Amino acid sequence: MENKNQVSPKKAAFLRKQLLNWYDLFRRDLPWRAPSGASPDPYRVWISEIMLQQTTVATVGPYFENFITRWPNLRSLADASLDEVLHSWQGLGYYARARNLLNCAKLLKDQYDCKFPQSETILLSLPGIGQYTAAAILTIAYNKPANVVDGNVERVVARLFGIEDPLPSSKNKLRQSAEQLVPSKSEGRPGDYAQALMDLGAMICLPRKPKCDKCPWAASCKSAQSGQAQFLPRREPKKIKPVRYGTVYWVQTEDGEVLLRRRPEKGLLGGMMEFPSTEWVEGKEQTEMTLAGLSFGNRATRVEGVISHTFTHFKLELSLSVVRLPQRIELGGLIWCLPKHFGEQAFSSLMKKVAQHAVRHLG
Ligand code: ADE
Repeated sequence: MENKNQVSPKKAAFLRKQLLNWYDLFRRDLPWRAPSGASPDPYRVWISEIMLQQTTVATVGPYFENFITRWPNLRSLADASLDEVLHSWQGLGYYARARNLLNCAKLLKDQYDCKFPQSETILLSLPGIGQYTAAAILTIAYNKPANVVDGNVERVVARLFGIEDPLPSSKNKLRQSAEQLVPSKSEGRPGDYAQALMDLGAMICLPRKPKCDKCPWAASCKSAQSGQAQFLPRREPKKIKPVRYGTVYWVQTEDGEVLLRRRPEKGLLGGMMEFPSTEWVEGKEQTEMTLAGLSFGNRATRVEGVISHTFTHFKLELSLSVVRLPQRIELGGLIWCLPKHFGEQAFSSLMKKVAQHAVRHLG
């Protein structure tokens, strides 16, 4: 019996041809993309693919330009400090990406003479490079056939084949369905095909309002034909995120300096600067903040309002307390910084919110 998610090699070749014709007319001009016919720079492909993980093209654009201006090649990046790279990453989120990027650059400099490997096995062994990124680098930078499947591609494929099973359980099925369409090296243009699919997902096969009337695949698309495209892919109900609570301290001297510390390198917001806080825990009872045995308990004044932030696996509600000190206390590992110099610190978006909240309420 014919599997409804299978296409014949002839039909797959026809679909690719239609998509590439469309791509040649409508491809996006993106800062990391080589002009038509030019060879892509693997370093730029790698940086862009890391930045684009969990992040939109619109957000990445300016970060990519600044990054490449500052570190135009792998050798220059390998010589950067973690603090510099985290600073350039502030606001992009998922800071482990920046740490891995730097570790990867150092490793490639030391062991691969600053050349980007072309082997999937080696790529997968590098820090921060998983299945998706390895496939994207191989196909975009080196024009090798690879099945590059991200959320956009899952949507296009679910609609093309009319796959009703909900995500995330249907991931494997969608990946296998996408695999049949990947062009061989001999057919040419695997890199363009991968990028064309991304562009189709971003420009035509939009999540809520797909533009089926402009789609090169509409005549072959099961869900466009049945008018159901906007309802696919289906999703299993989202899990409700737990809420964690904590208190963050704005500790300020009479000279106006504010106390900061660096988060541990491993883990959430690793290596970023922060205002000291209690642990973030579920349930409202909070452990009191002590720094090197120094308790701020009765010196702390709570500021009204809360600072809310959503992470991938939990929501956070921080309350802010202010502690005024006549002068600095020197404590190991802590940094005093005037607010006018905050721009030099690697703050996460959460800590920028904390600073704004404090400045708004304290003037
Ligand atoms: N999303 C992930 N990688 C991308 C790329 N190279 N171009 C456009 N969108 C993308």
